Amino acid sequence: MTDFIATANPGFAPYAMEELRRRFPGVKLAGLAPGETFKLSPGPLPDGELIDSLRRDEPIFLRHLFPVQEEVPLSSDPEETAAAMKRFAQTRADALGGTAVAVQVRKSPDSPFPFSSAEGRDAIVPALVDMGAEPVAKDAKWILSVYAAKKTLYLGLSKPRDNLSDWPGGAVRFRREEGLISRAAFKLLEAERTFGLPLGRFTNALDLGAAPGGWTSVLLERGVDVTAVDPAEMHESLKGHPRLRHLRKNAAELSFAPGSFDLLVCDMSWDPHHTCRIVSGLAPALSAGASGIITLKLMYRKPLQTISDLLEQYRQTFEIRRVKQLFHNREEVTLWVRKP
Ligand SMILES: C[S@@+](CC[C@H](N)C(=O)[O-])C[C@H]1O[C@@H](n2cnc3c(N)ncnc32)[C@H](O)[C@@H]1O
Repeated sequence: MTDFIATANPGFAPYAMEELRRRFPGVKLAGLAPGETFKLSPGPLPDGELIDSLRRDEPIFLRHLFPVQEEVPLSSDPEETAAAMKRFAQTRADALGGTAVAVQVRKSPDSPFPFSSAEGRDAIVPALVDMGAEPVAKDAKWILSVYAAKKTLYLGLSKPRDNLSDWPGGAVRFRREEGLISRAAFKLLEAERTFGLPLGRFTNALDLGAAPGGWTSVLLERGVDVTAVDPAEMHESLKGHPRLRHLRKNAAELSFAPGSFDLLVCDMSWDPHHTCRIVSGLAPALSAGASGIITLKLMYRKPLQTISDLLEQYRQTFEIRRVKQLFHNREEVTLWVRKP
């Protein structure tokens, strides 16, 4: 039975653990970096069953995991640590020779690991080159993961899809584009990628809580016409855009002709139950098969209960496609729904 190193957004590991306990009674969980990273021991579950189940139905808060094939007592000596990591890579030479390999190195804040992530990677890369592997950052066939905790170095080799994310610890990075209007734009870009929902396939979008316009600018760039709703001002650079209509209104006061939009996005900073009532009330303005991408603000003490209550409400009007805490979500999760 393989153990795993699992990661959630800072502060949300307790909820990731609770989801795992509910789904797999008997799993053992132990914190490594408080609130964020933990060790998962699946107990009697056959190897592969846990991963298959997680891939089929991704939990909300678990962002990333990798299997642990070797545990080494951690030394603060750079040479000893580099040698342990190289040895692990060399034991996998048969699988790695001639393939593209990404090396991902992370550490807990209290770890005496003597390298930065980049230095740790550089310590392993020569061993990979010697065995004929091609070290890459993206599109790898294999990911060699290293996690340095307080006393132990955890090492594992896995296929990217089995880690739930091919980013180190699930920390998706987008290039910081020139003139980015708001960091909120990253949430929509990450939702597009995570849900496999190319935004350019939509024609008319309704953006609720749109100001200053990060999400709107992503949609306009994808060629979508946007009706942006927000009492606040939109960013200067969007004013007068030929495919943008800005309604300076409270979203609760709006109505539109039936079937006006094939996409609704909503990032309103408001109580998630109010937001649900507004979004559901606007459902007639959506065409059949339209998608909705909505951030659910977790402003109450019991996030799992809040999400479960909200999903029940959304289900009255929409099909639930996915709900996930994205790397760029803070105190919130992102919901994807479809109008039947
Ligand atoms: C987090 S910001 C949205 C950021 C935006 N998605 C972006 O990418 O730039 C939340 C916005 O929700 C708006 N908002 C809050 N309640 C609203 C309501 N009832 N109707 C319309 N907008 C609302 C606020 O004015 C604020 O601009």
